[in-house]
Amino acid sequence: MKKILITGGAGFIGSHVVRRFVTRYPDCAIYNLDKLTYAGNLENLHDVEQCSNYHFVKGDIQDFDFISSLFEKHRFDGVVHLAAESHVDRSISNPLEFVMTNVVGTVNLLNAARKLWLNPESPMPQARFYHISTDEVYGSLGSEGIFTETTKYDPHSPYSASKASSDHFVRAYHDTYGFPVVISNCSNNYGSFHFPEKLIPLAIHNIKNKKPIPVYGKGENIRDWLFVEDHASAIDLIFHKGKNGETYNIGGNNEWKNIDLIRLLCRIMDRKLGRKEGESEQLITFVKDRAGHDLRYAIDSSKLQNELGWKPSLRLEEGLEKTVEWYLGNEAWLEHVTSGQYQKYYDAQYTQR
Ligand code: NAD
Ligand code: DAU
Repeated sequence: MKKILITGGAGFIGSHVVRRFVTRYPDCAIYNLDKLTYAGNLENLHDVEQCSNYHFVKGDIQDFDFISSLFEKHRFDGVVHLAAESHVDRSISNPLEFVMTNVVGTVNLLNAARKLWLNPESPMPQARFYHISTDEVYGSLGSEGIFTETTKYDPHSPYSASKASSDHFVRAYHDTYGFPVVISNCSNNYGSFHFPEKLIPLAIHNIKNKKPIPVYGKGENIRDWLFVEDHASAIDLIFHKGKNGETYNIGGNNEWKNIDLIRLLCRIMDRKLGRKEGESEQLITFVKDRAGHDLRYAIDSSKLQNELGWKPSLRLEEGLEKTVEWYLGNEAWLEHVTSGQYQKYYDAQYTQR
């Protein structure tokens, strides 16, 4: 039986990837390695936790001895690496944790896999290391232009600098050791199980509770939104069909100004909650801008579409309807993740602004 290690599988995107792999590949053993930080929640996987091919391992990718013994014990045939610190605002207040998990953690995984897969006495030539990255490594666009796979790296936040660094290490292992890697860089995801510190789930949570919706600066920054299940389908395709040494951009061609997106969300929520039209928009509150805030991201995913035949299935308007329905139907989940640690962090951030 093939063994695949998915790191960060208890997080937002990781849980969608684990669910997809567990259900589509019953002949593969899927190992979910996660530290369960504030962003990792096993409730995200309650529907697959009883599947016989699913295994959870609690552990920290910063700990090389632990990672190395895990690879020796299970001899994984492939790695889909998503574990990371993922929130830009947190990277501004605590950059070192981003270096430790996103850079050191990635190099630990590369070293453990290299030791196993490139061992001259028992090489594993079919193995593959898939590193999941972000479009933020390319920096910020003005009103024109689009990120392609050859756009020069120009990260601005500690988060994007740590992801850029990890991407460089992954490529360096390919070029230096002939280590089998593939990388993808994706735009902003949204959908179910998204932790409510990020713009869309935070706004849904606050609208529901009639709390202020914090919009940074004038709300003119633009993001290119992709439904999370479309990201998971791209990851599946790239892991199985992508070429070693290659990079694939993933994006949904759904560019939205933050303020327009929030207004759309307010209209959807008013309708679904039976509120008067325009009521939720009153909650919009312009707050101090994020330091070093990138103006615009837009991603060209034509390589992935033309070479591997991937297509996003939903536009933002449709995906947002589904996402709001999910949040309104999963109040217990929202309640659990917004209590305790998260609430304290949110309150501290919000009162500072
Ligand atoms: P997330 O914060 O929701 O989940 C991250 C997961 O990693 C959590 O389950 C957490 O417990 C785990 N983790 C953190 N530190 C760990 C450590 N030291 N050891 C083991 N596990 C650890 O993140 P996400 O939004 O699902 O992002 C997943 C990946 O996709 C990240 O690598 C991120 O950079 C990338 N990405 C995210 C987006 C997006 O829009 N969210 C877009 C492009 C790329
Ligand atoms: O582009 C991919 C990246 O998208 C991923 O690599 C990151 O892991 C992910 O967090 C996301 O980064 P962003 O910084 O773009 O996402 P966030 O949801 O934090 O912010 C989206 C936009 O909304 C951004 O312009 C900042 C703004 N914003 C955010 C928050 C949390 C607000 O105006 N108010 C808020 O409260």
